[in-house]
Amino acid sequence: MIAKTPFGVTVNGAAVDLYQLTNAQGMQVKIITYGGIITSIRVPDSFGNMANVVLGYPTLSDYERLSDPYFGALIGRYANRLAKGKFTLDGKEYQLSVNDGLNTLHGGKTGFDKVVWNAVSSAHGLTLSHRSPDGDNGFPGSLMVTVAYTLTDDNALHLEYSATTDQPTVVNLTNHAYFNLSGEGTRDIYDHILRINADHFTKSDSQLIPTGEIAPVECTALDFRVPKAIGTGVRSNDPQIVAARGYDHNWVLNQTEPPSLITAARLYDPHSGRILEVLTDQIGLQFYSGNFLTGVGYGSSGRSYRQSDGLALETQHYPDSPNRPEFPSTVLRPGETYRTTTIYKFSTVRA
Ligand code: GAL
Repeated sequence: MIAKTPFGVTVNGAAVDLYQLTNAQGMQVKIITYGGIITSIRVPDSFGNMANVVLGYPTLSDYERLSDPYFGALIGRYANRLAKGKFTLDGKEYQLSVNDGLNTLHGGKTGFDKVVWNAVSSAHGLTLSHRSPDGDNGFPGSLMVTVAYTLTDDNALHLEYSATTDQPTVVNLTNHAYFNLSGEGTRDIYDHILRINADHFTKSDSQLIPTGEIAPVECTALDFRVPKAIGTGVRSNDPQIVAARGYDHNWVLNQTEPPSLITAARLYDPHSGRILEVLTDQIGLQFYSGNFLTGVGYGSSGRSYRQSDGLALETQHYPDSPNRPEFPSTVLRPGETYRTTTIYKFSTVRA
């Protein structure tokens, strides 16, 4: 079931709507047309009590003014960082808008998180679309993007992304939901137990740009092959963790042959019994432990968020791939269709 209500008007005068998806089990997902932002996901705990398990803000004006965390937003044209805000494609260098020191983060100053998307709803979901013009934030080609959100009766939210272009370009789309399975604004996520299906990660420098080295997770704080509590490693002395102020890295997901949807991560909260599984066909996963949350503004239920009050699991291609020929390509050419799927699947277990 889908219900649509007005969510306000942007500073530029564009009307924004909120769509509420509800499935047969009573799970509810709220999405706004501004940034395609998932503002709320209400799922039961092991006793059936519902809570919102994603961070967000109460008003549109908060999302516009306090956009740094990218709560719940669609991210494009290029999720994560592009070094020095540049890349070269087919011999031509493109200068992008820079918004993270000298680098480009999450598509630049006015990425997809700040766009009011066109919406079409159906019985089980919502499809958002947007045409990003040639030269948008410096990226070449007119890019047509659609993102379909579908809520299924087994408590899974499917996100299916697709994009086409009229000129060669690069694309890397994701969603930036921050999860706290105890409930947004209730406690930190240090006790959450995480498993990441990856033997390797891309090492990064002090600006969180990949060095190019694909390193084993073995014997590092980034080893989540066996489930462990996030709190055990988030303050470790591992130089990778110190430089990022916590977890903020790209894991190289173990692939199947032939490639298919895999369970990239499984998150379990012993306090509520809630479980989140992230399934994807993407090759990378950024696990970000909310290190830059500084208590600015108030979240959906009136509490401010600080470091480790939520965590993001961003399915993606590796950061800075356009500048790293040794990484799998993110180039999209006319006639091709970029397609990727990520599923957030919720369940519970009695603690
Ligand atoms: C993450 C990124 C972090 C931070 C955050 C937004 O995807 O890895 O370094 O920039 O977005 O605040």
